[in-house]
Amino acid sequence: EKEKTLAMIKPDGIAGNYTDVIKKTILDSGFSITQEMLLELNKETVRSFYAEHASKSFFPDLVQYMSRIKFSDFVKKVNAIADWRALIGPTDANNAKITQPNSIRAMCGMDLQRNCVHGSDSPQSADREIMFFFNKASSGFVSRND
Ligand code: CMP
Repeated sequence: EKEKTLAMIKPDGIAGNYTDVIKKTILDSGFSITQEMLLELNKETVRSFYAEHASKSFFPDLVQYMSRIKFSDFVKKVNAIADWRALIGPTDANNAKITQPNSIRAMCGMDLQRNCVHGSDSPQSADREIMFFFNKASSGFVSRND
């Protein structure tokens, strides 16, 4: 069965004009794009999206960085969550360039913060994040536990 995940192109990816190449990589890698939107988040919305990181020292920087224009795709494929995380590579784009040079973060990320893309890290996160932007239930996680 197909699984869904949130594939977000972050502000540095938009600013660097990487949207088309990232979307081509998504499609070439066997995902289909279910729905997409271009949006600009205010700081409150970024704080809420990244609430799990609220206590981290990098949180204020993350909020500043993310409150610019970005592109959210909601993609699906068998094993979408793990496969999208594998395709984007490690969080730190500098590390990605060494350990996973073919990854999206190696291609368009800059460093630990400006890493160009985001992917949900679990079925629970995918469900929450797709709901957050698209107002739709995703993986069935919600209904399985209803
Ligand atoms: P993401 O995978 O979207 O999850 C949280 C984001 O916070 C992460 O990508 C980076 O953009 C940023 N981030 C994570 N760890 C750090 C860190 N140690 N320093 C600065 N930014 C970070």
